[in-house]
Amino acid sequence: MIRKAVLPVAGLGTRFLPASKAIPKEMLTLVDKPVIQHVVEEALAAGITEIILVTHGAKKAIEDHFDVNYELESELAQRGKTKLLKELRSILPAGIRVISVRQGRALGLGHAILCASEVVGNEPFAVLLPDVLVDNFAQPKNDLACMSQRFIETGLAQVLVDSVPQEKVDQYGIVALKEGASLAVGESKPMQAMVEKPTPEQAPSNLAIVGRYVLPPRIFELLATTQPGAGNEIQLTDALDALLQEQGAEAYRMQGKTYDCGNKLGYLHATLVHALRHPEVSEGFRELINQLPEA
Ligand code: G1P
Repeated sequence: MIRKAVLPVAGLGTRFLPASKAIPKEMLTLVDKPVIQHVVEEALAAGITEIILVTHGAKKAIEDHFDVNYELESELAQRGKTKLLKELRSILPAGIRVISVRQGRALGLGHAILCASEVVGNEPFAVLLPDVLVDNFAQPKNDLACMSQRFIETGLAQVLVDSVPQEKVDQYGIVALKEGASLAVGESKPMQAMVEKPTPEQAPSNLAIVGRYVLPPRIFELLATTQPGAGNEIQLTDALDALLQEQGAEAYRMQGKTYDCGNKLGYLHATLVHALRHPEVSEGFRELINQLPEA
């Protein structure tokens, strides 16, 4: 069982300014639930019991969101708002721990993951990048759970991938499978190489890393010696490429859908989908959309 998940949330969120000036971008909501809560729920649904936030001093709201707000809870209890109280308490179910470590300097995703090494210790763990929403709505088992199971069976690192248009490969880590291999949805296959943000000409495929990983602790030793790469940052993809050359690693093709909440249009798309699914507002929201003059 993979018990621990690392969520790097120290990024400044410049793509969401001015909204992210005083509020962490991970706290922006899809209707009424912060993006980060969706990501934590995904981790918990995959059996994770310890969430490790790699965070920054300016982003305390995230830690507060997963902490008990005693005043608010007692106020709601006094006013008899039982449903709301239950909902608040369910943000962090019993038996789940949230731990934070600070990333003092923004040296890249690989560096952020390395900051969690002491808390993770010598066991395999998951990584979830909170900009990315993986939507496994109505699927009995989410993609992260399938990746964890595959890791347990094979001992090989699992990296979630999906195809992207060729002109967008320079925004992602791109993976190469073994010669001639193809990858069906829900399947894992060995990789040959990984490269962070290649140009469309250099890209070995259009299979992009989506932001979910299940990794062995060996990755920490490799990260500790990884030199700055794309964007002059310490890249997780580069350490993973070293791991892959050393002991192999697999790409797992996602079954669900993904929304990139790190950009405005992706965030709006996710909002739209979640509003149309929301038990309280879906009907009214659908009416609103139908009434739009251009709809
Ligand atoms: C990071 C990873 C990249 C991955 C992407 C997924 O890049 O470095 O390999 O494809 O997340 O969203 P970032 O978006 O942080 O630049």
